[in-house]
Amino acid sequence: MCGIVGYVGNGNGVEFLIDGLSSLEYRGYDSCGIAGITDGDAKVVKTVGRIKNLEELVAEDLVLNIGIGHTRWATHGGVNTTNSHPHQSFSGRFTLVHNGVIENFQELKDRFFKNVNLVSETDTEVIVQLIELFSKDGLSTKEAFLKAISKLQGSYALCLLDKEDKDTIYVAKNKSPLLIGLGEGCNYVGSDALAMIKYTNKFFEINDGEIVTVKKDSVVIEDKEGNVVERESFTPNIKYGEIDKGVYDHYMIKEINEQAFAMRNIISQYFNGKDVKMDEEIINNVKEADRLYVIGCGTSYNAGLVGKHYFEKWAKIPTEVHLASEFAYNVPLLSEKPMFIFLSQSGETADLRAVLTKIREMNTDYKFLVLTNVDASTLSRECDYTLLLHAGVEIAVASTKAYTSQIAVLSILAYEVAKQLGKKLKIDIEKELSVVTNAIESILDDTKNIKKLSDKLFTERNAFYIGRGVDYYSACEASLKLKEVSYIQTEGFAGGELKHGTIALIEKNTPVVALITNTKLDLNTRSNISEVASRGANTLVITLEKLAREGDYAIPNVHEELAPIVSIVVTQLFAYYAATGRGLDVDKPRNLAKSVTVE
Ligand code: AGP
Repeated sequence: MCGIVGYVGNGNGVEFLIDGLSSLEYRGYDSCGIAGITDGDAKVVKTVGRIKNLEELVAEDLVLNIGIGHTRWATHGGVNTTNSHPHQSFSGRFTLVHNGVIENFQELKDRFFKNVNLVSETDTEVIVQLIELFSKDGLSTKEAFLKAISKLQGSYALCLLDKEDKDTIYVAKNKSPLLIGLGEGCNYVGSDALAMIKYTNKFFEINDGEIVTVKKDSVVIEDKEGNVVERESFTPNIKYGEIDKGVYDHYMIKEINEQAFAMRNIISQYFNGKDVKMDEEIINNVKEADRLYVIGCGTSYNAGLVGKHYFEKWAKIPTEVHLASEFAYNVPLLSEKPMFIFLSQSGETADLRAVLTKIREMNTDYKFLVLTNVDASTLSRECDYTLLLHAGVEIAVASTKAYTSQIAVLSILAYEVAKQLGKKLKIDIEKELSVVTNAIESILDDTKNIKKLSDKLFTERNAFYIGRGVDYYSACEASLKLKEVSYIQTEGFAGGELKHGTIALIEKNTPVVALITNTKLDLNTRSNISEVASRGANTLVITLEKLAREGDYAIPNVHEELAPIVSIVVTQLFAYYAATGRGLDVDKPRNLAKSVTVE
């Protein structure tokens, strides 16, 4: 979702602003812009569409020693240049970029700008106009900024320029992510470390409610009461090279290919010889819980469904899996001793942050663990415990390696909890995850055949994935992957449920792919496949070698409980080839954002 960058320093910030926005492209956006102060005036360049359109509009000789930039993912007002950021106050003195949603913007508009025509339809413009209004009352820029912020309800990350002060970027945040990057003779602002990692690896976190004054040679953080806060800088676990596509055409295929590497990384991070290496406090909290609440969105939610299977089957702990967007506003009856496990690749998802706030309001003793791929992400800072996915940076909007890593880390956690609870386990998890790694590699060696199958299968507007047990969860994830990048309308179904209505949609050539990785459910799912085949469906079974029949796509035999980590790779490749075959921008599917930072 919206991305923010800022630069103040001795050099020309234009290169950083454009570069930084390009690094934030992966979050999803529909328009973009930059602004800065030059010759005592504020210059704004903005456009609808891609950063390359913006680059074409920026004059080659533009020099900005101070500037801000923004990628917009429309929430209030249509996608057009007027609504894109940066926004300016009426006099042009103040220029602002904003990520988030101002929930009370209509009230503010009615109260402060009743008979005034604002320029745009956005919630953001109200903020910059308020700043100007308050500064006209004699307040300093910082005071006016603070006063405007005090009126806001909702989420925001803000960068403000005042053309009468060419040395300062004013920064503040609430719920939306924002970091300060520390440079030599300059400083940066960015929605995440990726936006700045080419230029610096030293960052300051900003907490909600703080206001930060960024100059080329100083960064002053003040808390709500105006006290100066001393903060240690941090260096995240990412390198510039990691965000390069390398030899691949797209990030999605690069990341699909990185899954074996991610598995090896997880094994080396979470095993110590034969033992699991994991914070004992996390294990104890899970062990002592009478019920686990696993919460996520999209792909992370689907990974949680597989995780439930491990916690219940191995550790015998009742586990509920919930969509974050539902949970916060419809909290289920909680058990006596719940433990919350959040799944979030980005660690920034607003729906999960809303759950955290809601549940903490109910009981401050509850414990929260987050499984995330992003070290020092907002959720990682806000939850009690973090387990990192160690998958390496994931840029493509469609989550692939984070999904398989989430399942692997959940399996290790559930295994260790089960072991410590004295449950009898018939799995050597470290060994089996190594087998899984090899199986992923052999699938990645077979992409030519997988592409051929994908071309033959996905010729229609609709498609179905079916499965039973954990294969049903994989079917849900496989279908999410296919629909989000190829725009083919796809559903994941429990095999047995088709007959209860959905089979009405099966026509000649409708693709139906069955996932079968559980010996006990093999025959049941095969019956469902024959039912749709008899009605003309174009069918395929993805199964383990030991269960394979003629015409199936066989994946190497792995421990059945861990098979979802392997079978899904075939379906990720199907999605990739279906999308690229249609000439679609697979890394940036329409309307989607990588980091969903508004509810
Ligand atoms: C994944 O392919 C999706 N783009 C999306 O469903 C994603 O998984 C969801 O938005 C959750 O994101 P998170 O894991 O960063 O919280």
